[in-house]
Amino acid sequence: MRDVAALKVQAAERAVEFIQSGMVVGLGTGSTAVHAVRAVGRLLQSGQLQNIVAIPTSEATAEEARSLQIPLVSFDTHPVIDITIDGADEADPNLDVIKGLGGALLREKIVAAVSKRFVIVADHSKRVTQLGSRAPVPVEVIPFAERPVCDYLQSLGARVEKRLAEDGKRPYRTDENNIILDCYLGPIADPYQLAATIRQRPGVVEHGLFLNMVTDVILATPDGLEHLTRA
Ligand code: A5P
Repeated sequence: MRDVAALKVQAAERAVEFIQSGMVVGLGTGSTAVHAVRAVGRLLQSGQLQNIVAIPTSEATAEEARSLQIPLVSFDTHPVIDITIDGADEADPNLDVIKGLGGALLREKIVAAVSKRFVIVADHSKRVTQLGSRAPVPVEVIPFAERPVCDYLQSLGARVEKRLAEDGKRPYRTDENNIILDCYLGPIADPYQLAATIRQRPGVVEHGLFLNMVTDVILATPDGLEHLTRA
C-alpha cells in the first residue's frame, strides 16, 4: 500500500521527465511540487539536464532551488517559461484547479500565465468532480481592504476564514505581505463566473481558481499514474 507521500513523489518525478535541457522552468510551491524541484536539482547535478534556468513561485521555493544550485532568473531576461510544474488543492475533470493552500497563489498564477506548459502534480486525494467540494478558495487581499472584501465574499455565500500564521495567532502574510481570506463555498456551480465576481472587487489581489490554465495533470493513484491533458 503506497502512502500519500510516496504518491506525491511519483507524480512530481513523472512531470520532471517533460523537462528538456535548455528549458526555462517554473518551479512550484508546496509539499508535492518540492519533489519536482529536488528532481530537477538531481538531474542538473548528474548532468542529465543541462542549461536549465528557473523562476520560483515563492521565496520558500527560491530558497530550496538555491540550496540545490538550480540557476534562478527573472522575467526581465526570461519573460516566457517553457514548463511549470506545481501542485494543487483540487483538480476537476476539466483540468481546472484550486491552488493556494500553501499561500503562494499570486506568484503561482503569474508564473502559470506565462508558461507554455503548466503541469499540475498531485495525489489522487486532490481529484474532485466539482471545485470547492473540499478545499476553500483562497483570496489574497490587501490588508487595508480586509473588512470590505470579507463582507463582499460573505455576501457571495462564502464562509470566510482569515488565514493565520503557523503560530495560530498572527495573520498569515504572503510573500507580497498581503493577507489571505479562505472562502468555503461548497461545490461551485460556475467557477468562471465566481472567479470574475471575486476578481472585480477592489482590494482583491488574486484568487486561487486557476481556470483554463493547466495543460496537464499528473495524478498519482494507488493503481498507478494518470496523465490528463486538455482536449
Ligand atoms: C501553494 O500556494 C499551493 O498552491 C500548492 O501548490 C497547493 O496548495 C498544493 O500543495 P501540496 O502539494 O502541499 O498539497
